Amino acid sequence: MIKTDGTARIDNGATTTAMIDASGAAGVAEIGLGALVQAHNAGRVYKWGDTTAVALSSATCVVRPGDRIALIGPSGSGKSTLLHLMGGLDTPTSGTLEWPLLGARDTLRPSQVALVFQMPSLLAPLTAVENVELPLLLGGASEKEARTAALDALGRIELEEIADKLPEELSGGQAQRVAVARALAYKPKLILADEPTGQLDHATAGHLFDVWLGALEGTDTALVVATHDLLVANRMHVSWHMQHGTLEVNN
Ligand SMILES: Nc1ncnc2c1ncn2[C@@H]1O[C@H](COP(=O)(O)OP(=O)(O)O)[C@@H](O)[C@H]1O
Ligand SMILES: [Mg+2]
Repeated sequence: MIKTDGTARIDNGATTTAMIDASGAAGVAEIGLGALVQAHNAGRVYKWGDTTAVALSSATCVVRPGDRIALIGPSGSGKSTLLHLMGGLDTPTSGTLEWPLLGARDTLRPSQVALVFQMPSLLAPLTAVENVELPLLLGGASEKEARTAALDALGRIELEEIADKLPEELSGGQAQRVAVARALAYKPKLILADEPTGQLDHATAGHLFDVWLGALEGTDTALVVATHDLLVANRMHVSWHMQHGTLEVNN
């Protein structure tokens, strides 16, 4: 809502409330208090030849520690585009993205922002625990540190018993839980998940989210998940809706 004193209030449910100045600049500083990531009038346009496609138009939103946000919208509505901007994988063609609690885009680390995609993308020759620890090893952790963190993450998502199995020996739900454990192993501040249960049936998707949210309980890790699955969305605190590139966060 726009208030008479010239500020706009964006209410993102119980845990996310921000004040922004309608004129922009001063508001960005205000909106930044306690935000992991904030988009201010962020847009993303694709151009090729004479054709222009607006993937995202003027999105303003804030994600704070501990938020659990479902990003809901039909295919092609701009969900992945927004997640990619929030993860710093892409830059907006208008407006701004900022990470007040994390730093500048080019300094974002996997330990701060973790991504989970629709396909688990596990490396076939590596066991589950090796898949989880590989990014930690590449990030400079010692073998002992990486193994401890990987086993801890698998334990938090109730997968200790399949730690030594190869991806081909896992069910689709187990493989996706390994991908979730790989994200959790960093103890990130923000997890961005793009239709992580898109390949799973309702029951398996529900179970994955139950253990995932259980693993996050008591942490201040924020989770933003793009999903078509309303049972998944209902497990989150807040739903944001996307339609034709327009984000609606007032709910
Ligand atoms: N690399 C790209 N080049 C051109 N258009 C794109 C590209 N990526 C996405 N788009 C377009 O932007 C819109 C939003 O896409 P996307 O964010 O992937 O939606 P969703 O994740 O909700 O399915 C779609 O119309 C899509 O075709
Ligand atoms: Mg998508």
